[in-house]
Amino acid sequence: MCGIVGAVSRRDVVPLLLEGLRRLEYRGYDSAGVAVFQDGLKRVRSTGRVAQLEQQVKAEGVAGSLGIAHTRWATHGPPSIRNAHPHVSGHGIVVVHNGIIENYESLRQKLRSQGYEFESDTDTEVIAHLVDQAYAACHDLKQAMQNAMAQLEGAYALAVFTAENPDRLLAARLGSPLLLGLGEGEYFLASDAAALITVTSRMIYLEEGDLAELTLSGIKVTDRNGRQVERPVHASKLSLETAELGPYDHFMQKEIAEQPRAIADTVEPVLAQGFVPGLFGEQAEAVLSRVDSVSFLACGTSYHAALVARYWMEQIARIPCWAEVASEYRYRDSVPNPNTLVVTISQSGETADTLAALRHAQAQGHAWSLSICNVPESALTRQATLSFLTRAGLEIGVASTKAFTTQLVALFTLAVTLARCRGVLTSEAEASYLDALRRLPGKVQHVLNLEPQLKVWASHFTRKQHALFLGRGVHYPIALEGSLKLKEISYIHAEAYPAGELKHGPLALVDADMPVLAVAPNDALLEKLKSNLQEVRARGGELYVLADEDSHFMSSDGIHVIRLPDHEGVLSPVVHVVPLQLLAYHTACVRGADVDKPRNLAKSVTVE
Ligand code: M6R
Repeated sequence: MCGIVGAVSRRDVVPLLLEGLRRLEYRGYDSAGVAVFQDGLKRVRSTGRVAQLEQQVKAEGVAGSLGIAHTRWATHGPPSIRNAHPHVSGHGIVVVHNGIIENYESLRQKLRSQGYEFESDTDTEVIAHLVDQAYAACHDLKQAMQNAMAQLEGAYALAVFTAENPDRLLAARLGSPLLLGLGEGEYFLASDAAALITVTSRMIYLEEGDLAELTLSGIKVTDRNGRQVERPVHASKLSLETAELGPYDHFMQKEIAEQPRAIADTVEPVLAQGFVPGLFGEQAEAVLSRVDSVSFLACGTSYHAALVARYWMEQIARIPCWAEVASEYRYRDSVPNPNTLVVTISQSGETADTLAALRHAQAQGHAWSLSICNVPESALTRQATLSFLTRAGLEIGVASTKAFTTQLVALFTLAVTLARCRGVLTSEAEASYLDALRRLPGKVQHVLNLEPQLKVWASHFTRKQHALFLGRGVHYPIALEGSLKLKEISYIHAEAYPAGELKHGPLALVDADMPVLAVAPNDALLEKLKSNLQEVRARGGELYVLADEDSHFMSSDGIHVIRLPDHEGVLSPVVHVVPLQLLAYHTACVRGADVDKPRNLAKSVTVE
C-alpha cells in the first residue's frame, strides 16, 4: 500500500526520493507526490505513475536538499491531486502518512471549529493541521509532533518537516512500519528497505511509538515515553540484483523462476541442523513440547499455506490444528485455549488483519505465538514469541509466489519439529522428511521446465470468463491458491472446490465454456478424483489435469494432461502449485494485464 521516502542531505535529494518511490511502486498506489525545501517549499503531486510525477518535477525544475515523498493507495477519498500526499498546513507544515487515523472525523470537526479549512478528504490532513496547531504554540517541531501524536488513534508512519525551520525531518511510527537509513553525512527514512537500496544498507527499524529527528548532524530517537533511546543499526541484505528485473519481463516471472533458490535458502538451516526447535527461536524448545494444539491465522495466499499446513500438522505431528482467515478470527467470540500455539503467516509481516488477529489472540490469553514471515524485523515477527524467517528474498509482484512455497517449507519444518518434540516421529520418518526437503529445489526446477506446455494451456484460458479448480485433501488448498492467482492477475473469475463437492452444486456451472482444472497427484485420493472428473467430462466440460508421471494419466478428447515428475509424497503440494503460478502468469500476459501491479490490489495490505 502507501509508501514513504524522505531525505536530508547536502545534495539535491529529489532524484533519490523519486528513485525510492519507483522502488516502492510494487506495493500498489494510485497517486504520488513529493515536497522539498530549497529557498521555499516546492510540492508536486500526480495521479499518474511515478514516471509522470518525475516529468512534472523536471518540468518545474524542482530541487532541494531536504524533502519527503509518497505513493498513496486511496482509503479516505478517491485518487486525486487534492487527496495525494504530501499535505500542507499553515506554518509550512508538510506531512506524508501511511496507515489510518480512526478518530479523524472528530478531530476534523474540532479543527474546523477552530478555523482550519480542509482541502482534501483524507485523514492525513488532520495530522498536518494538528501539528501546525501545536507548532504555532511552541515553535518546536518535535514537541508539536508529540502533541499531535497524543491525539491520534489508529495506525501511522509519518514523515514531517516545516518550511519555517527546514533543517530537520521528523519521523514517527505506530502500527505502520518505518525505518531510517544512515548515509555518509546524510540521512533517510522510508516505509520499506527497498526504497533506500541505492543509497544505504545501514538501517534502523523504529519501534512502536518512536519519534526520530533527522538532521545533517545525525539521528536522535525518542521512545513512546519521550526518553532518548539508541536503536540497533542493521545491515540490510537486500541487493540491487534482487530488486531488478534482469532478463525477465515481470517480477512475478522472475520470482516464480527463483523458487528453487528461495526454497534451498530457506531449508539450508534445517538441512544443517535437522528439525531442531532452535530454528524457531530461543524459547521454542519449552513452548513446542508443551502446546496441545495449533491455530493458524493468515490472509490470502498465506492463509492457503496455513490450510496446507493443517494437513501436515495432523498427519505428521498428530496435533489438533485449525486455520482461520485472520480478519474473521478477531471478530469471533472464540474460546481461547492457553496451550494453543498461535501461528501467524505473512509474507510482508505488515498485514493489518494478521497483526490485529495476533494481538487479539494475545489479549485473549494466548501466550505462545510464532510468526512465519519473509521480512526481518517486521511488526509481526516482533509481536510473536517465536519466529521463523523464510528466505524468499524481496518479493515485488503483488501475486505471491516464492513467498508461498517458502512458507510451505517453513510450515512443513514446523510440523516435523513439533512431531519430534511430541515424541511421535520415528528416526526413519525424520530422515525421509529431511531427504524430501533436500530434493525439493530440484523437483521444483523440473516443474519450471514444463513452462511451454503451460503457455499452451494459457492460450486456452485466456478466452474464458470463468474457471473451476479442483483438488482433494492437501491439494484442495493448492487448487484454492491456483484460482486466487488466476483471478488476481488475469481478472478471470475462478473458483476452487474440493472435488467431492462438485456434485453438491458447482457441477451445474459446467459446460464447454467452463474449463475445469484438476490438481491430480498420484496419491491415495486419485481414484476418487478420477470419478469426479468423469462427472465433468460427462457434462461436456473441458478438463485440464496436472498429473504425476507415475499415474499414467493420458490426454484424450476434452482432457488435457500435463505430467509432473513422479509423485513427490508429502511435499507434493509445493511441486503442484508451481504450474498453477505459471498458468496464471501466462494467461495474464496474453490478456495484456499489468501482471506485477494488478488493478485495485496492493502488495502489503496495511489497512483493515
Ligand atoms: O503479506 P501477507 O502474506 O500477510 O499478505 C496476505 C495477502 O494479502 C496476500 O497473500 C495476497 O493474497 C496476495 N496478493 C496473493 O497473491
